[in-house]
Amino acid sequence: MNSSFDLKTYLEGRRKLVDEWLEENLPRPVGPHSLVIEAMRYSALSKGKRIRPILLMAAADAVGGDGTRFLPQASALECIHAYSLIHDDLPAMDDDDLRRGVPTCHKAFGEAMAILAGDALLNYAFEILSSPSHSKGLDPETVISVIGTIGHASGINGMVGGQAADVLMEGKEVDEETLRFIHVHKTGAIIKAAIKAGAILGGADPIQLERMEEFGYHLGLLFQIKDDLLDVEGDEKRLGKRTKKDAEKKKATYPALFGIERTKQMGQEILKEAIDALSIFGPEADALRSVANYVVRRSR
Ligand code: IPE
Ligand code: IPE
Ligand code: MG
Ligand code: MG
Ligand code: MG
Repeated sequence: MNSSFDLKTYLEGRRKLVDEWLEENLPRPVGPHSLVIEAMRYSALSKGKRIRPILLMAAADAVGGDGTRFLPQASALECIHAYSLIHDDLPAMDDDDLRRGVPTCHKAFGEAMAILAGDALLNYAFEILSSPSHSKGLDPETVISVIGTIGHASGINGMVGGQAADVLMEGKEVDEETLRFIHVHKTGAIIKAAIKAGAILGGADPIQLERMEEFGYHLGLLFQIKDDLLDVEGDEKRLGKRTKKDAEKKKATYPALFGIERTKQMGQEILKEAIDALSIFGPEADALRSVANYVVRRSR
């Protein structure tokens, strides 16, 4: 791997592009419903890492496309992510009061506005993805394929299914297969979709696409395993969210089932599988490799 690749500068630069795009393109709070729009903007514009949009753009770059051209599609994915966090934090789900260093959406705006802001962000994402002005130069088949990929990953066969299983398994003993199901769906699906959508937009051939999906599967699982570890070992201030919540809620997690050390070992094995999936790519996939390494090293 190209050791001169400067990940910090890269992540900051791409994050800034996403922040600016969202700031500019999210609805403005006017009208009798302005409060729900404020809630949408509050959550989507709070300080997230923007990993999913960054991955979408990096995957497009890796297959020979120009990632930054797909900033609207990348940002749409961040809207879906923001919605998933708003709903994840609700009292009926994880009941959290802190997110990205600020009060959760329902703490700031009330439960009704938080539920609706989540719904609105989900739908707004599909408005962006299907809008002709954001799809200029893309052929309709590509646009439909991206919408289908993201719709599938967000719904019952992806994130929503995983979130349901996560809640249903609270307090229960789970086996490894069920635990993997939860993680691959609640978090892995959107991350895999980011990478797959980026590859489709960047013009991947079928073999490249297959490798990207394999990379995405492993990276998505790895991302949630690290999230589990950070809940046990991470710093609340740095993370901007409460820690030690998973044990309190008796969540099905890797550290709970396997212990910290074995979980870290498994993380390294999954990282290797992720990196191996990129073996057909050259230096144009260095950003993806570097982000994958960052996912296990990150402290927030
Ligand atoms: C947190 O996601 C929720 C999970 C799906 C694990 P991130 O760790 O990407 O959170 P932000 O977007 O940076 O706040
Ligand atoms: C969240 O998993 C997954 C989604 C939001 C889809 P967690 O519940 O572990 O995420 P955090 O720890 O609250 O960010
Ligand atoms: Mg949760
Ligand atoms: Mg949570
Ligand atoms: Mg967590």
